[in-house]
Amino acid sequence: MQSLRSALSYDNDGRYKHWRTSLRDDSVLWVGFDKNWKDKDSTNTLGREELEELDHILQAAQKSNPSALVIQSLKKNGFCAGADIKQFIDSDASDMEAMLRDGHAVVDRLERLPFTTIAVLHGHVLGGGLELALACNLRIGLADKLQTGFPEVMLGLHPGLGGTFRMTHQIDPVQAMTAMLTGKSTHGLRNKKLGLVDDYIEPRHLDAAVQSAIAGKLRSKSKDASLKSRALSSAIGRRFAAKQMRKQTAKRAAKKDYPAPYALIDLWEDHGGATRNMQEQEIKSFAALMQTDTAQNLIRVFFLQQNLKEKHEDAGAIEKVHVIGAGAMGGDIAAWCAMQGFAVTLSDQSAEPIAQAVAKLGKLCVEQHKSPIETRASLDRLIPDIDNKGVEQADLIIEAIPEKLEIKQELYRSIEPRLKSGAILATNTSSIPLEKLAADLKSPSSLLGLHFFNPVSRMQVVEIVSHDQTGADNRKTAMNFATGIGKLPVAVTSYPGFLVNRALTPYLQEAIMMLDEGIDKNVIDGVATRFGMPMGPVELADQVGLDVCLSVAELLRQSLEQPIPPIPDWVQKLVDQDKLGKKTGQGFYQWKAGKAQRDRDKFTAFLDAAHGDDSDSSEQKISDQESHNDGSVMSIDDITDRLILPMLNACVECYHEGVIENLDQLDGAIIFATGFAPFRGGPMHYARQRGVAAVTQRLETLTEKYGDRFRPNVGWKDI
Ligand code: NAI
Repeated sequence: MQSLRSALSYDNDGRYKHWRTSLRDDSVLWVGFDKNWKDKDSTNTLGREELEELDHILQAAQKSNPSALVIQSLKKNGFCAGADIKQFIDSDASDMEAMLRDGHAVVDRLERLPFTTIAVLHGHVLGGGLELALACNLRIGLADKLQTGFPEVMLGLHPGLGGTFRMTHQIDPVQAMTAMLTGKSTHGLRNKKLGLVDDYIEPRHLDAAVQSAIAGKLRSKSKDASLKSRALSSAIGRRFAAKQMRKQTAKRAAKKDYPAPYALIDLWEDHGGATRNMQEQEIKSFAALMQTDTAQNLIRVFFLQQNLKEKHEDAGAIEKVHVIGAGAMGGDIAAWCAMQGFAVTLSDQSAEPIAQAVAKLGKLCVEQHKSPIETRASLDRLIPDIDNKGVEQADLIIEAIPEKLEIKQELYRSIEPRLKSGAILATNTSSIPLEKLAADLKSPSSLLGLHFFNPVSRMQVVEIVSHDQTGADNRKTAMNFATGIGKLPVAVTSYPGFLVNRALTPYLQEAIMMLDEGIDKNVIDGVATRFGMPMGPVELADQVGLDVCLSVAELLRQSLEQPIPPIPDWVQKLVDQDKLGKKTGQGFYQWKAGKAQRDRDKFTAFLDAAHGDDSDSSEQKISDQESHNDGSVMSIDDITDRLILPMLNACVECYHEGVIENLDQLDGAIIFATGFAPFRGGPMHYARQRGVAAVTQRLETLTEKYGDRFRPNVGWKDI
C-alpha cells in the first residue's frame, strides 16, 4: 500500500509525537498523521495535542514555503476516525468554545496556506479528519476502503471543526446536509461523484496523481457552478430546503430527544450564506449541544461500546471455525465469519441450505461494500462440508441446529469424540439451559453459548453464555472471537432468556396484554417509538415471529418466579392459523414488501385529541388518553411505563441473579441488542436519572393496578 511504503521515508527524529514530515527533492512537504507513532497506536484521532503539533508544522511551512503540502495518514486503517471524544467530556461550555476556537485557528491556517495543499485519503475519514481534508485545496481518494462521513449526529452533536460550512460549500448543500443530518458514510468511488474527492485512484498511482495535482491539472470539483447550489445560496432557497429537512428529520427523531440535527438545520438556514458567521455560530452551537443530556448520554453509549470491544490478553486464538446447521442462523453466522476473515466449514443434513448460505455471502459482501477481490476471498473461505469433516480441524464449533434438547444432545454425542483437543463447542441456543446441554458431555468445560441475534449481519451483540463448568479460558477466547468478527460480546450466565430475551419479553408481553384490553396497536407502537425505541413492541413481535415469542414467553413462565401472564387465546389462534408475523405476511399487522402496514394517523389522532401538535411537548405535559375495553382510559405515561418499566425490572433481576456482572455492560448490551433509546444512556442509566425510588414506587403503583408482574425486584436496592 502506497501510504505505508511512503511512511518509511518520513522523518524519525521525534520532533512530533503524532506527525512525521518529509521534505522531498521536488520541494513538496509531505505531512504524515501518525498518532503516537512510537507507541504504534493503530488509529488516528484528533485532539488538542495533535492539532497543536500540526499548527507548528503549518507555521514552519508558512516560513519555508514548499511548492506544495500533502497531508496523509500513516496508519493502515485510515486517515482519521474523528475527534478524541474523551477530551470533550468534562469541559463546560466556555472551555469547549475556547478549545474549538483554537482548533478552528489551525484548520483556518491550513486553508489559507499560499501554496497548493492536498489531502490524500484512505480508509475512514470521519468527523474532524474530514474537516481537515476539507480545508485543503484538493483531495485525492485512494481505492483503499475509503469511507468518509460526519457521524457526530450519533453523539448528539454536529460537525464542530468547520465541517458545517466547508462541506456545504464543497458539495451540493442538500447532499452535504443529508450526510451530516443522518451521519451516514460515503463509500469508495461515490466520494468522487459527490465531489468530496477530486480524484479517486489506485494507491499505486499516488505519486503521479500528486504530481499532476501540483502541476495544476487537477481542479477541485466544488459545487459552486450548479444552478441548485446558486438557488440554495439565497436565504429564500435555504428556508425552503430547511423546511423539507426538518420534516424528514422529524420522521426519524423528535427534537426534544435529538436536538442536534435541528440545531444544524437552523445553523445552515440562518447563516449558510455567510461563512464567518456560520463558523462563529457553529462553535457556539456545538458547545451548547455538548452540554445537553442527549449528547452526554450518547457519548456514554459510545464508551460503553468501546468497553464491550475490549480484548482479553491471555486468551487462546481461533483460526478455524466449523458451523453445524446452515439454516436461518447458522448460514448467516458462517457467512459473517467468512467475510470477517475466518476459514469456515459449513455442514448441514442437506446441501440446499449450504448453497443458500454461500449465495447469501455474495450478497452480504456487496451490502458491506466489499471489493470484488475481497468478495472472492470471502467466498473462498466459506467451505461447504456436507460430510461434517471440518469438525475435526476446527478450534471453534458453532452448533445452530433446531431448538430441541434431544437433537442437540444427539449431535454432541456423535461429534464430541472427534473434536480437536482444546476445541470450543458453542451453541446458538436461545433458550435451552446450558447445563442441560452439558450434562452428557465428557468435557463440559468446552461448552458455552454463542448467542447471535437475528439478523446476524445487523445485530451487534453476541451473548457469550457460560454455565457452571464452562472453562474461564474458553469464555475469554470466545469473547475475543466475537470482537474479532466485529461483534460486541456480552458475558452472561445461563438463565431463562439469558439477558436480552429476558429483558425484552415483558416489553412484548405487556403489549399483548394491552392489545387484549382493546388498546390500538398503532397507539402502543407509537408510544414506544416516542419513548425512543427503534420499533414498537407489536411490530417487533411480528418481526421476531409470534410462534417464537410464544415459545420464549412459555419458557420464561415455566422457569421464572416473576409471574408472566398467559397468552390470550386469540393470539394462540393467530399462530395456529399460521399468522406468524413478517415471515408469513400477516401477524398483528399485515406485512407488505417487508414492511408492517402501520396506520400512523391513529397515533397522531391520539396525540392531537388532547393538545394539537405534540412535537415539542414534554412527557409530563402529555396526558393523552386511550379508551380501554372496560371504558376506563389510559394516558401515554401509563402506556410508556407499562412497556418500559418491566424491562428495567427484568434487567435488575438479571443483575441481582448474577446473569451479568456489571451495570454498564448491561446498559451497553440492552442498547446494542434491542436499540433501547440510546439518547437515554441505557435502561439502568435511565432508571438512575429518573430516580430509583421513583421507578420502584411507580412499579408498586402498577402492581396494585395490574398485578404482580410489575412487582419491583429486590435487587433495586443495589442499583
Ligand atoms: P433453522 O431451522 O432455520 O435451521 C436449522 C438447520 O439445521 C436446518 O438447515 C437443518 O437442516 C439443520 N439440521 C437439523 N438437524 C441437523 C443435524 N443433526 N446436523 C446438521 N444439520 C442439522 O433454525 P434456526 O432458526 O437457524 O435456529 C438454529 C438455532 O439458533 C436454534 O437453536 C435457535 O434457537 C437459535 N436461534 C434462532 C434465532 C432465530 O431468530 N431464528 C435467533 C437466535 C438463536
